[in-house]
Amino acid sequence: MTNWWLLLSATVLCPCAAGPPPARRAFRPRSFHGFDTPSAHFVGTNGPAGIAFGGLSSREGSRPPGGGRARIGWVSEPSVYAAPTAHGSISELIRRHSANPEDVRDVALEGVNVAAADRLLDLGCGFGFMAEGLARRAPAGTEIVGVDVNPSNEIPFVRTVGRAGCRGRFVCERLVDRLDPVAGRFSGAAASYSLYFFPGLVRSISRILRPEGFFVAVTHREASLRHLLDVLDLPADNAPHLAVLHRFSAETGAGLLTPWFGSVETREYPNDLVFERADFEALLAYVRFKLPLIVRGFPLGMDVPRPIAGRAAVHLEREGRIEIAKDDRVFVCREPR
Ligand SMILES: C[S@@+](CC[C@H](N)C(=O)[O-])C[C@H]1O[C@@H](n2cnc3c(N)ncnc32)[C@H](O)[C@@H]1O
Repeated sequence: MTNWWLLLSATVLCPCAAGPPPARRAFRPRSFHGFDTPSAHFVGTNGPAGIAFGGLSSREGSRPPGGGRARIGWVSEPSVYAAPTAHGSISELIRRHSANPEDVRDVALEGVNVAAADRLLDLGCGFGFMAEGLARRAPAGTEIVGVDVNPSNEIPFVRTVGRAGCRGRFVCERLVDRLDPVAGRFSGAAASYSLYFFPGLVRSISRILRPEGFFVAVTHREASLRHLLDVLDLPADNAPHLAVLHRFSAETGAGLLTPWFGSVETREYPNDLVFERADFEALLAYVRFKLPLIVRGFPLGMDVPRPIAGRAAVHLEREGRIEIAKDDRVFVCREPR
C-alpha cells in the first residue's frame, strides 16, 4: 500500500472527519478576509457551512531535469504544469467558479505602466496567463519573453501573446537564482503563481530591470491552501506545496522583495471558489489537479480517491454548495535596487 493511500485512508476515514462542518465566512468582494486560518469544511447555504538567453534555444532546454518531474529546490514538484491544455482548463474552471468577479490580472496591472513597455519578461510563464494580461496593455508588437521549465508551454505561450497583439518568445529554462545579464534590460517583469519555485531569483530580477522598470508578482495565501487541505481532510504536514508556497506567499512575500526594491505595494485579491450541486464534476476536476501538489507521492493523473469524492458528493447534496478559500496577494515592485 502506498504512502499517500495510507494517509488518505487515515485522514479521510477517521471518525473525527465525519462531524458537521463549521461555518465558512461569506465572500466579501474587494474586502480583506483577514489572515486567520479558516477552519471550515463543506459549507451549507443555510448554516455551517540563470536565464541563458544567450545560447540556449528552447529546443536545447526541452528536457525538464529529472524526466517527468521537475526538481525544484529541495522539493520534487510533480509536473502538473507540463500539460498546458489541462492547466488552461483548470485556469478557466477557477475563473468560472470564482466568487470574486474581477480578473486578478486587472487587479495586478492596474496603474502599472505597461503601456510604456518595449520588452517584458514573464517568469514561470506557463501557457501565458499573465503574459496575455501584459500583452493587452503593452504597445502592439512589444516583445514578451516567457521563461518556463516545461517545454510544452512554448506553443500556447507564443500563440497567446500573439493573439493579444505582441511578440512572444519562449525560453525553456529551469530558473534558480540567476538571470543572465546578456539578456539585456527589461521594462517590466512578472511572475504569477511561480516565484515560490525560484525565490532566489529576486535579486537578479531587480538587476535586469531598467531603473523605471516594474516587477509584478502574484501569489497565494498559505491560509487558503490550508483551507483546501482542511476541506479535504488532508494533513498539512504531507502537503509538499505548502512548503514550496511558504517561500513566497501572501504571508511571507514582502520580506523577500523589500531588500531589492525601493517600493513594494501590496494588493489583496480576496476570493472563494464556489461549487454548487450541479458542479460536482468541476469540483472533482479541481481536486484532481491539486492532489499531486498537496499529497506527497500522489500519482499524476490519478482519479480522486473514492472516500474524498464520496464525502464531497454527500456534502454537496446535503448542503447545496462547497466554498474553498482562494485568496491571492499581488506585489507591485518599483525602484529596483
Ligand atoms: C502555477 S504555474 C503558473 C503559470 C503562469 N504564470 C500562470 O499564472 O498561469 C507555475 C509555472 O512555473 C513553472 N516553473 C516551475 N518551476 C520552475 C522553474 N524552476 N523555472 C522555470 N519555470 C518553472 C511551471 O512549469 C509552471 O508553468
